[in-house]
Amino acid sequence: MEITSFLRFLFLVLLGVILLGGSWFFDNKGGEPVGLDCSLNKPCCTSKNRIQAKSDLTLDTLKQPKPIDHLTETPHHPLDPLTLQEINKVRTILSSYPPFTTSFPAIHFVSLDEPDKSVVRSWNKGLPLPPRKASVIAYLNGQSNLLTVDLESSQVTRHDINQGSGYPSLTFADMAAVAKAPLTNPEFMEIIAGRGVRLSDLTCVSLSPGWYGEREEGRRVVKVQCFSNEGTVNFFMRPIEGLTVTVDVDTREILRISHTGAGIPIPTATDTDYRYSAQNKAEEMMKPLNPISIEQPNGPSFSVENGHVVKWANWEFHLKADPRAGVIISQAVVQDSETGQPRSVMYKGFPSELFVPYMDPSDAWYFKTYMDVGEYGLGLTSMPLVPLNDCPRNAHYIDGVFVTPDGKPYVQSNMACVFERYAGDISWRHSETPFSGMEIREARPKVTLVVRTIASVGNYDYIVDWEFQTDGLIRIKVGLTGMLMVKGTPFQNINQVGEAERNAMTGTLVSENVIGVVHDHFITFYLDMDIDGTNNSFVKVNLENELTSPGESPRKSYMKAKRDVAQTEKDAQVKLKLYDPAEFHVVNHGKRSRLGNPTGYKVVPGGTAASLLDHTDPAQFRASFTNNQIWVTPYNKSEQWAGGLFTWQSQGEDSLAMWSERDRPIDNKDIVLWYTLGFHHIPCQEDFPIMPTVLASFDLKPVNFFEKNPILRASPNVEKDLPFCRASVASA
Ligand SMILES: *[C@@H]1O[C@H](CO)[C@@H](O)[C@H](O)[C@H]1NC(C)=O
Ligand SMILES: *[C@@H]1O[C@H](CO)[C@@H](O)[C@H](O)[C@H]1NC(C)=O
Repeated sequence: MEITSFLRFLFLVLLGVILLGGSWFFDNKGGEPVGLDCSLNKPCCTSKNRIQAKSDLTLDTLKQPKPIDHLTETPHHPLDPLTLQEINKVRTILSSYPPFTTSFPAIHFVSLDEPDKSVVRSWNKGLPLPPRKASVIAYLNGQSNLLTVDLESSQVTRHDINQGSGYPSLTFADMAAVAKAPLTNPEFMEIIAGRGVRLSDLTCVSLSPGWYGEREEGRRVVKVQCFSNEGTVNFFMRPIEGLTVTVDVDTREILRISHTGAGIPIPTATDTDYRYSAQNKAEEMMKPLNPISIEQPNGPSFSVENGHVVKWANWEFHLKADPRAGVIISQAVVQDSETGQPRSVMYKGFPSELFVPYMDPSDAWYFKTYMDVGEYGLGLTSMPLVPLNDCPRNAHYIDGVFVTPDGKPYVQSNMACVFERYAGDISWRHSETPFSGMEIREARPKVTLVVRTIASVGNYDYIVDWEFQTDGLIRIKVGLTGMLMVKGTPFQNINQVGEAERNAMTGTLVSENVIGVVHDHFITFYLDMDIDGTNNSFVKVNLENELTSPGESPRKSYMKAKRDVAQTEKDAQVKLKLYDPAEFHVVNHGKRSRLGNPTGYKVVPGGTAASLLDHTDPAQFRASFTNNQIWVTPYNKSEQWAGGLFTWQSQGEDSLAMWSERDRPIDNKDIVLWYTLGFHHIPCQEDFPIMPTVLASFDLKPVNFFEKNPILRASPNVEKDLPFCRASVASA
C-alpha cells in the first residue's frame, strides 16, 4: 500500500470510529445503538432538555444490563439456573455413578433442583447460597430415571425410576433420527413415489402420539408425517395427506404405516413462502408506514442484577430461562406505595402445560392432541429472538443454558427479552366538563415492563409475555402465530363440495387443496401466589341477583357481591360462567389494610374457552387439567407440571385434576393458583400461509392490596423531557 493510500485508509478508519463514536460502547447484543450523531443529513434523536455529552454515555450511566459471560458465570441467587460449569460437573458426577459407568444414559433434562421454598424465602443477599443441586431426567434401557445430583458432595442423592406412565420429551437427536427412519422402508418409498413426491423433497416431522390404549404401551413411539418442500420453505402447507408412520423411538423400527390419502393431491407451493425476500414487492397493496420506534436516550429504566434479578420501577423479580417452561418468574415483589417496603406477590409463575387438541377423528389426525410443554419444551424450542421485530430497540436479551443428550451444556442465545413498552396507553386520567367550572385535564401515560419468550413448537409460534405495570397489575399474555397444521383435500373450491362431504369436513378451506383443521389451545399457568407471605386463602366473590321486596324500592332487582372462602381444593375448581359471574381473589387474612380489608390479588380471566371434549376421551383424560379454568392446590414442590412430569404417552394419572381430587384444605395455607387461557381456533383464509398473531391474556390485579391508587404521584409526560426526533431532510 502506498503511503498516500495508507493515509487515506487511516483517515477513513478514523472517520468511521468518529461516526460510530458515542454509540459503539452501549451496543447491546440485540438492538441497534441509539445514534446521537446529528451532524449528518439523516433522521436523528436527541433529548431536548437533557442532552448529554457523549462522554457521559457510558454503560454505567445508562445502566444497560450486561450480557452474561457463560464461561465464567457463577450463581449469585439460590434460584439462579445451573451454569455451564455446573452442568459440566453434573455430567462428570453422572459418568462415575455406578449404574451409568458402563453405559451412559441419554440426558433429557438438567435443571436446578430449587432449594426448599422456606430456604429461598429466608435467604438474603450477602448470605452464602444454599447447596446447589441438579435435577436430571435420563433415559436408559427403556427406563426414565429421575435423579438429584448434589454438586457440593458430588453425589447422586436421589435416584427414582418412573413407575407411572409416560416418558420424557424426546431429545432433538431422537426426533431427527426417528423422522429419517421411514426413508429406507420399501413400502414407504413406494407410497411416496405413488404420491408423486421425490424422496429428496421430503421433510418429515416427529409428532407425539398422545396415548390411545394398549397398542402403543410399553415402548416409546412417534408418529412421523411428511411434507413436500419442493419450491417452498413452508413445507407445512404441502402435506402428504393421510400418511402416518408409527416408529419405535428406541429401535427405530417401523411399527405401522397407515396410508389413507391415496388420490389426495399435494397442495402446490404457490403463495406459501412467507419470507420477506420471497414477496413480490411490486404488488404492494398498502402504503408503507414511516419508521417507528420508542426512544430512550437515557437508556432503559430497568436493571438486571447478575443476569437474573430484574428491578424496574416498583417491581423486583427473579428471571431465569428453563428448558421446559420457557422462562420462570420467581419472587415477584412490589414496593408498597406508602412505605416503600417490598411486599411479596408471587413466589413462582410459569406456563405449566399447553394442550392442543385437533378436531378430526380420522387415522392421520386423531392422535394430534399435543402437550407442548411436557412433550417438546417451551424453552428448548425458543429460538433466538429477532432484534427490532420480536423485541424493540433497548431490549435486554437473556440466554438459556441447556443440555445435549450426552450431558454437555450449550447456550440457547437470546431466547428471552426484557424491555419497556410504551404503546400510547393511559395509566389513569380525568377531565372536567364545563359545568363544573373547573378546567382539569389530568392524564398519565402507561409504561410497562415486558418479559417475552417465543417458542416455535413445530409449526406454531407461542409468544408468552409477562407484563408488569406500575399500578401493581401483572398481565400474562399469549400470542399465537406461525403456521396452521393443515390437511390436504381433493377440493379446490367450496362449490365442489357436496353436502355430505361438507359435513365431513373438519375445518375451513384456506387455500386450494388445503383445509385448516379446527382445534383448541389451552395454556395452563402455575401461579404460586404469596400475597404478603405464604398464608393465603382463595375467595370466590360471587355476583348474585337480589330481588327487592314489594314496596321496598322502585327497583325490582340489584346485584350483590357475596364472599365465599374456599375451604378445600374442590371448592376452588372453577368453571367460568357468563350468567353466574364471580371474582376470584387470593387474599391474606392475616394482613389487613388500614380499613381492615384483607390484602389480596385477583385473577381476572380473559381468553376464556373451555374444552368441549368428552371427559372420558383419552385425549381429554390426559389433559384433565383443562376440565376447569381455575384450580387451587396446596403448595407441593413436586406438583408443578399440570399434565404430569413424564408427559410423552402419559395416561393422565399424574395430573393437576388428580391431585385436586384429594380435596386437601386450602384455607389460610400456602396455595398455588392455576389458570388456563383457552383459544378455540376455526381457521380462516387469512391464516394462510402464516397466521397473523391471535392474542389473549389474563391479569393478576391488586385488590385492597394498596391503601389507595398506588400511582397517584406518577408524573405526566412533558415535551421537554422527551427525546426530540427530526425527520431527515430527504424524507421531509
Ligand atoms: C400460617 O398459619 C398457621 C395456621 O394455619 C400458623 O401456625 C402460622 O404461624 C402462620 N404463618 C405465618 C407466617 O403467619
Ligand atoms: C406432594 O405431591 C406428591 C405428588 O403428587 C404426592 O405424592 C404427595 O403425597 C404430595 N404431598 C402432600 C403433602 O400432598
